[in-house]
Amino acid sequence: MNKTYKICILPGDGIGTDIIEEGKKVLQRVAEKSGIKLDLEEGLIGGIAYDKEGTPFPQDTWEKVKDADAVLLGAVGGPKWDCLPRDKKPEKALLELRKGLNVYLNLRPVKIFPFLAGMSPIKNIANGEITPDLVIARELSSGIYYGEPKDQTGSGDNREAVDTMRYTYEEIERITRKAFELAKNRSGKVTSVDKANVLASSGLWRDVVNEISNDYPDVELDHILVDNCAMQVVLNPQDFDVMLCPNMFGDIISDLASVLPGSIGLMPSASLGEGRKGLYEPVHGSAPDIAGQGKANPLATILSVAMLLEMTLGLGDEARTVEKAVYDVLNEGYRTHDLYYDEKKETLVSTQEMGDLITDRIV
Ligand code: IPM
Ligand code: MN
Repeated sequence: MNKTYKICILPGDGIGTDIIEEGKKVLQRVAEKSGIKLDLEEGLIGGIAYDKEGTPFPQDTWEKVKDADAVLLGAVGGPKWDCLPRDKKPEKALLELRKGLNVYLNLRPVKIFPFLAGMSPIKNIANGEITPDLVIARELSSGIYYGEPKDQTGSGDNREAVDTMRYTYEEIERITRKAFELAKNRSGKVTSVDKANVLASSGLWRDVVNEISNDYPDVELDHILVDNCAMQVVLNPQDFDVMLCPNMFGDIISDLASVLPGSIGLMPSASLGEGRKGLYEPVHGSAPDIAGQGKANPLATILSVAMLLEMTLGLGDEARTVEKAVYDVLNEGYRTHDLYYDEKKETLVSTQEMGDLITDRIV
């Protein structure tokens, strides 16, 4: 008998609901066509969970997550919950989820679709001179996001607050090995991003990356300071392949790199630990200003579904089918709001219509 895969679906807040609907459609169609059995379990997370249950990450959600083979998440957060204490904020749930799953490797591929190159604000991408293809390997379960913060104390101009950034050898080693393994199957180059000229934790980061690199003689290694990296990733994106980043630097560099393909609405991600279990989510946020209006681009989520199929379920062919559907639909000129700029050549479609177009091509 076929194994039934359990997928935990966490729509979250804002456009999270809109895009997850489309991701689910694609998953279900792939299951129908390929004969795999999926059991989709929905859970509450983020601001909506806080509103309904008084906590952004209810125990019931964690049980569902624990039980699942993979988790597909929309987005969390919004101005409605900004005034909550740090521990109740929607974002806290996401951090707990990542930590709880121990998914320390966050992969964020950045690819250019040739027929969308014109959308890129980067001149030499827009004119077809370069077609960068890189992947950010962001450390996701440690660093400054998981330090020992001290919330504000004092009053008036005496107030202070503290965050701490700590990395251990083991935390750096495990993600470094994953980054080098990945590079072996790509162009064979790792660029490690740090601030080793200032930060102690970055000094250790650089030392450990250098040590581990000795085990991968076929992979080229470069180090770059994060400030310079921010400049180079937009000036010379073609120079990068695997970008190995500590947690917060990876967060910032991802948003920078998302301008390359022309919209953050195209950027999927996969977060993995030791096994096959993974957390899949678009790189973009909850965009409350366009929620429920059919304007959100579901392709980042649908491409995250492709990553789920490949990395957790081992269905590489099915993943390619989903990616090809995305490629074809865009190539035919269908555009969601974020990508629409030429009424003569393009057809504007809603979030749902885009989801249907992709689903219909999975045959
Ligand atoms: C991301 C987001 C999250 C992060 C937020 C929502 C906590 O910006 O996934 O990039 O900072 O990791
Ligand atoms: Mn981010």
